[in-house]
Amino acid sequence: MGSGIAEVAAKAGSTVVLRSRKQESADAMVAALGTSLAKQVSRGKLDEAEAEAVNGRVSATADLEALADCDMVIESVVEDLDVKKQLFVELDRIVKHGAILATNTSTLPVVEMAVETARPERVVGVHFFNPAAAMSLVEIVRTLLSSDETVAEAVAFAEACGKGPVVVEDRAGFIVNALLFPYLNNAVRMLENRTASRDDIDAAMKGGCGFPMGPLALLDLVGLDTSVAILDALYVEFRDPNYAVVPLLRRMVAAGQLGRKSGVGFYDYAK
Ligand SMILES: NC(=O)c1ccc[n+]([C@@H]2O[C@H](COP(=O)([O-])OP(=O)(O)OC[C@H]3O[C@@H](n4cnc5c(N)ncnc54)[C@H](O)[C@@H]3O)[C@@H](O)[C@H]2O)c1
Repeated sequence: MGSGIAEVAAKAGSTVVLRSRKQESADAMVAALGTSLAKQVSRGKLDEAEAEAVNGRVSATADLEALADCDMVIESVVEDLDVKKQLFVELDRIVKHGAILATNTSTLPVVEMAVETARPERVVGVHFFNPAAAMSLVEIVRTLLSSDETVAEAVAFAEACGKGPVVVEDRAGFIVNALLFPYLNNAVRMLENRTASRDDIDAAMKGGCGFPMGPLALLDLVGLDTSVAILDALYVEFRDPNYAVVPLLRRMVAAGQLGRKSGVGFYDYAK
């Protein structure tokens, strides 16, 4: 998600510092951005000069201190509240006073990250969808402590990125994932119960509901580990059995079958 958000922001004209824990992975993300832009040029969707300009606005670093002068930082690390809270402590120390510190979390309580900082009024959720370049929605998550100015600036940023933002209160899953994940989880339950095959479950929801992708293919795209983290956070908040992770999903994660990112999930991507 991090590299996708970097692409969207750079295309919108922002100067982007893409930070990863390892320089090689930050460099790899910038290289992947270059490949994505080159594809868009070859398909006639972007002209060459524009692609070069976008590339030139993105730099890669492993150093958190390199974010010091940013006006807005959007973290998109693993969906783990302790990891994110620790990152907010460090970002608050490093990033200039007044800058917005945002999270791309799918479900975690944004206010718990905000209170780790000395600027909770400048903390919001800026939740992009996957793939960030293609999906038009951004959920702007307002916590009990976010200021109106911060929410308005986050909305303006999303609009400048060509997205259609919606504003939502800080509840697990916000709008989309709170509604979507019971459906995805129940699709896995159906597969586990042998109600229908993988291909028939996906074909049914595409053909019957007009969805562009079936639920099992969508879980592979989201990442099964990320999906389990999202469901766990929803379950902790609402205690609704529809959010209780179906055993097959948890076992697949234990087996390293994480979907597209690992090469195998409900589908085999190595073939
Ligand atoms: N996958 C999706 O469809 C999707 C959509 C919207 C938002 N998100 C959110 O984006 C965030 C990242 O999800 P993703 O799907 O890109 O996950 P991912 O597994 O592809 O990437 C997670 C990144 O976090 C890094 N990371 C792991 N442990 C870390 C640690 N201890 N400290 C710092 N960095 C660490 C990893 O190196 C990796 O670069 C999550 O908050 C997720 O909820 C995901």
